[in-house]
Amino acid sequence: MNTVVVGVQWGDEGKGKIIDLLAETADVIIRYQGGNNAGHTVVVDGEEFIFHLIPSGILHPGKLCVIGNGVVVDPAALLDEIEHLRAKGVTVGDNLVVSDQAHVILPYHKVLDKLQDARSGRLGTTGRGIGPCYVDKMARCGIRLADLFDPASFERKLRSNLDEKNWLLQHFYHVEPVAWETTYPRYLDYGRLLKPYAGSVATLLHEAMGQQQSLLFEGAQGTMLDIDHGTYPYVTSSSATVGGACIGTGVPPKQLDRIIGVVKAYTTRVGEGPLPTEFPPDRMEVFRQRGKEFGATTGRPRRCGWFDAVVARHAARLNGLDELAVTKLDVLDGMARLKICVAYRIHGTILHEFPADIEALNRCEPIYEELDGWRDSTSHVTSYDGLPSAARQYLRRIAELVNVPITLVSIGVQRRQAFRVTINAHAA
Ligand code: IMP
Repeated sequence: MNTVVVGVQWGDEGKGKIIDLLAETADVIIRYQGGNNAGHTVVVDGEEFIFHLIPSGILHPGKLCVIGNGVVVDPAALLDEIEHLRAKGVTVGDNLVVSDQAHVILPYHKVLDKLQDARSGRLGTTGRGIGPCYVDKMARCGIRLADLFDPASFERKLRSNLDEKNWLLQHFYHVEPVAWETTYPRYLDYGRLLKPYAGSVATLLHEAMGQQQSLLFEGAQGTMLDIDHGTYPYVTSSSATVGGACIGTGVPPKQLDRIIGVVKAYTTRVGEGPLPTEFPPDRMEVFRQRGKEFGATTGRPRRCGWFDAVVARHAARLNGLDELAVTKLDVLDGMARLKICVAYRIHGTILHEFPADIEALNRCEPIYEELDGWRDSTSHVTSYDGLPSAARQYLRRIAELVNVPITLVSIGVQRRQAFRVTINAHAA
């Protein structure tokens, strides 16, 4: 059984925790897109682990963890993460494989990311060099992990890139160029340090499937940040939807058996761009504090809003979701009334579908349905029946509106604060 986990909203849905739970029954856990712009948090016995590149499955002994060709790798960040995990007693060695075809983030990618974001429209990127690295990949001048193992090839490619990028840095942005003298030897060193982990991911995964092993694909970011299907241009530069799992690993679509969408019980996003159900400042602050809505990568405060069923329905279709995992339900505890956005209104017309045009989206007003809230804490509930009846109703309504069954509910950061449910998409 091969399972893909994708984010339904704008990332930060709590995928790390869901992956951690599903990893128990998987053999291989694979990251397939994005880079260290992601921050997947897992709490084990009160200890917090934040993963940026390595699949969170690494916490499970005996599992193979893979970084696919679709990921962009900052070697320094990856080596730091390996060290950090080892310092906490986690084994990282033969259990980690990084695609030798993965593109490498170089210093000029990070510099350009910040300069370009400051100059043009401000998307509020994470500044990790993700976009510029994918630009080079598509422009066919990128440097891949395998290039770092071949000094002559790396020299040629790096020189050519530095010629172009340094011209831009000096003459367009009027900043210091990136120095050859420090970059070349440093990245050769990174190559030496990362070579033991490098491998051919597609071959390895096909071998694993041949041995009937089960694969678990860990999506980063979320559907609304997908380069094609998200709220462009306020998106990340990779395919965060399910198709990215195939492109970013070499596993064909027919091999994907189960697609799980992770969705927060409300909505958040970091950075700029439309968020139709965004709260006014006073309510925003309440959610931010309760839900600890601060970015795991940059620490930036997240913008919060009501659950948007239009977004979730759109994501369900784009990804072909089989199941939903709902996270952070406990953050809604104690609210007298709750709202779910069921459609948008634009110039008097009611829209049930997510508009492709960002300008139209900016003008959309949410149409809400109100539901009763619940008073009691849900954070120690262990089954569907243990939930307050209004919480059960809230979940049933989500399943119905999104038209996907809910199979998992999470009510806190600890591993034990989650339970399996069967909430059908059609009202019982
Ligand atoms: P980039 O991925 O750094 O290029 O940033 C582009 C947009 O995606 C910005 O709005 C970021 O805040 C957002 N973004 C990137 N990665 C994540 C993530 O893991 N969670 C939430 N938002 C993200």
